Amino acid sequence: MSQTALLVELEPVVARNLDRHLSLAKEWFPHEYVPWSEGRTFDGPLGGEAWSPTDSTIPDVARTALIVNLLTEDNLPSYHHEIATLFGRDGAWGTWVHRWTAEEGRHGVAIRDYLTVSRAVDPVALERARMTHMSEGYTNAHGDEVLHSLAYVSFQELATRISHRNTGKATGDPTCEALLARVAADENLHMVFYRNLLAAAFELAPSQAMRAVADVVADFQMPGSGIDGFARKSVAIALAGIYDLRQHRDEVLQPVLRQWDVFNVTGLNADGEAAREQLAAQLENLDRAASRFEEKRDARAARLALR
Ligand SMILES: [Fe+2]
Ligand SMILES: [Fe+2]
Repeated sequence: MSQTALLVELEPVVARNLDRHLSLAKEWFPHEYVPWSEGRTFDGPLGGEAWSPTDSTIPDVARTALIVNLLTEDNLPSYHHEIATLFGRDGAWGTWVHRWTAEEGRHGVAIRDYLTVSRAVDPVALERARMTHMSEGYTNAHGDEVLHSLAYVSFQELATRISHRNTGKATGDPTCEALLARVAADENLHMVFYRNLLAAAFELAPSQAMRAVADVVADFQMPGSGIDGFARKSVAIALAGIYDLRQHRDEVLQPVLRQWDVFNVTGLNADGEAAREQLAAQLENLDRAASRFEEKRDARAARLALR
């Protein structure tokens, strides 16, 4: 099916899932999650106190994860551009694109307000990182392919859900944990929306859907991978168990693939079958790589414990 035909055929599914989303999404307010009375004026024009690392007791790795998560949310204008260009602004697709953008915008507002008030991270470094990251923009690796993009966002929304949840736990701050749990609940609804669309695509065009899923799993990158120092930051985040390869495979890829029942899909052509075989091989590769990482992490923890 052509990209246009896919968009047209999926439109009623978008409409149904948009209604479902709106009936399940709970309204919430970022200001209610931020401990404003703990805030203090900063240095600069208002002559308050400069930020210091000792202003907060949040562990370093949780600060790193909060920065990565916030910068990821900050790049929303580029994401909006990518999905509005691909899905269009008309009908149910357009309503979804705008609604999704508004919800994601709330995440950035809430996390930034929390970080500024709690002084958990250096506000100057954060603002500079935001400028750098947004100046790079974001390009969808599969920007002209509807099904690849739906597969990507299905996994990516679940990945951000898990990352927010585990970041919240890693802070040891119940206020931050409650905020990130609230954000994570939104990401879960986003994941379900996209996952349902791709499930419908498996009915319409099973081989194209399988190809999309296999390609996306093969080269999956987190949306924030363009952040300055991302490689170093993501290793720290993985070592802390906030988001690692095991979680990526077992808690992000597998549950979504199970919902699509990819290994029992029928009616595949030769390329669809080949894609499914590539997918199975990739899951095995990821399993081995995740085990290798876990062994190294355990050995490192044992070494650190001996010191
Ligand atoms: Fe978000
Ligand atoms: Fe989301």
